[in-house]
Amino acid sequence: MNIAAGRKALVTGGASGIGLEVARQLAAEGAAVALLDLDEEKLAAAAADVGAGTVTVRADVGSPGQVRAAVEGAVDRLGGLDTLVICAGVIHVKPLAEVTEADWDHTLDVNLKGAFLCCQAAESALRASRRGRIVTISSDAGRRGVPHLLAYSASKFGLVGLTESLAAELAPSVTVNTVCPVGVPTTGMGQQLLSWKTEHTGQDADRVLSGIANAIPMARNGTASDVANAVLYFVSEAASFITGVSLDVDGGSRLNTLPGAAE
Ligand SMILES: NC(=O)c1ccc[n+]([C@@H]2O[C@H](COP(=O)([O-])OP(=O)(O)OC[C@H]3O[C@@H](n4cnc5c(N)ncnc54)[C@H](O)[C@@H]3O)[C@@H](O)[C@H]2O)c1
Repeated sequence: MNIAAGRKALVTGGASGIGLEVARQLAAEGAAVALLDLDEEKLAAAAADVGAGTVTVRADVGSPGQVRAAVEGAVDRLGGLDTLVICAGVIHVKPLAEVTEADWDHTLDVNLKGAFLCCQAAESALRASRRGRIVTISSDAGRRGVPHLLAYSASKFGLVGLTESLAAELAPSVTVNTVCPVGVPTTGMGQQLLSWKTEHTGQDADRVLSGIANAIPMARNGTASDVANAVLYFVSEAASFITGVSLDVDGGSRLNTLPGAAE
């Protein structure tokens, strides 16, 4: 049996990268899917990719009015909602002295306030389904601080707190979990970070990527399907007793080496 059979799912940030891969996997596993994103053109292309019947709703997740209208539209067109996956996100890379108030506000508005607004707008439909699922995408930067990613890291730590608090509040009708991926260089955000790293180090992209893979115990970079696989697990019936969990999808990169033993 398909693990998302009969589900009605809304994926924010669903027009690109991890969100698009989550939407593809949900549809392949039997879900009806709605994609929420900023750009109509990107949304139309993503819907064609995910498959016939895919619903699209355009909204800025930082705008309460747009989010309410988009979630209502998705619930109407899907005939209900039992799954919400929060993937919309932005990043910038700057040292403390260069981070502007606008940089800080935009990052927190999209990554954290946007998640709160989407969960709030979807709450009644998710509760009514009695088998609700919320899965948020945090980051390895939501588990450990990272230089030059101050606002991003703060927003992703915040998402872990939002996820745990909602898990406690929405049980037993809705489970709420988060996935914390290490870098996925193929997505829009992944490419943005890779360009910054090539400029910053003067190395070409292949060299940067092999350096990252060498630092990860599982010896490769992360992929959008690694992340989507974890999301689909949280959506599945097999995870119906799991809530408030942060799952690292990082190839073991958080693990330490024996201090003083490096050759
Ligand atoms: N790629 C990585 O290395 C990585 C690692 C860890 C976590 N993540 C997280 O995964 C999620 C997906 O990112 P991705 O890597 O697929 O990047 P991406 O840029 O490919 O996708 C992000 C999507 O969010 C949408 N978006 C941005 N601002 C929005 C707004 N205000 N309203 C609605 N939609 C908006 C974009 O249009 C885009 O389609 C993000 O939350 C990101 O923080 C990514």
